[in-house]
Amino acid sequence: MNYTRQDYEDAVSLIRSRISIQPTIGLVLGSGLGGLANAIDHAVSIPYEDIPGFPQSTVQGHHGRLVIGELEGKTVLCQQGRTHFYEGYSMAQVTFAIRVMYFLGIETVILTNAAGGINAEFRAGDIMLINDHINLIGMVGNNPLMGWNDDSIGPRFPSMTQTYDRRLRDLTHQVAQHYQIPLQEGVYMGLSGPSFETPAEVRMIRMLGGDAVGMSTVNEVLVARHAGMRVLAFSSITNVGIDQLDTETETNHEEVLEVGRVIVPRLTMLIRGVLQRL
Ligand code: HPA
Repeated sequence: MNYTRQDYEDAVSLIRSRISIQPTIGLVLGSGLGGLANAIDHAVSIPYEDIPGFPQSTVQGHHGRLVIGELEGKTVLCQQGRTHFYEGYSMAQVTFAIRVMYFLGIETVILTNAAGGINAEFRAGDIMLINDHINLIGMVGNNPLMGWNDDSIGPRFPSMTQTYDRRLRDLTHQVAQHYQIPLQEGVYMGLSGPSFETPAEVRMIRMLGGDAVGMSTVNEVLVARHAGMRVLAFSSITNVGIDQLDTETETNHEEVLEVGRVIVPRLTMLIRGVLQRL
């Protein structure tokens, strides 16, 4: 499944027909983090099924709608629930919403996800500011920028040296300090899932320099950066990766959703604080 420029424009037309504001910031809400959309004022919601070309979320804990409105005086378009590669969607489909944001004129994207903690210092309930990523799915041939390149959107070989915007990260640290919200920072390793990692894989990811691991985000970030959008991203550490054989505990999706909900108020404060300072 691939898209043409017309497909993005059709989705943009439908969205524009329902809203009267120009959104400037995109927000992507990950597993268990959908509650963040409740903070949006004067919200208009558009179910994905109303938008031509928009893939539907099939995963529990993901709503399937855009919520457009105001947050801290900024106009935001929030993707409440995303789609993943493991759902069987193509890379073009999992990044469709980001391209639609680009064609809507959005210049900054804030992404959130649920992730497993790999750094031995991390605990379930922590928030990690992503400062870099390792695109493990991309390295084995699943990069959303593969195929025909539309040069009017971005270059064939986009640089990824400065992927997670320095100024936005600095602002986030200021906000965290101001509200005394503990904030971890590190490298997100993107895998396809849906199976969680084996203990040997957890040890491998740690050895390769990953601080957190998850099944989303990197694809969306690549498409956003390709188009020159600024990116800020957070992982909610919903569990810690189990690195030893024969451990009784197991990672499960219910735990991911439950801890995600506990993190929402702190993550909302951080994002509100950043928006205020933009
Ligand atoms: N691994 C991969 N993805 C995840 C995890 C995990 O442990 N927790 C939440 N998303």
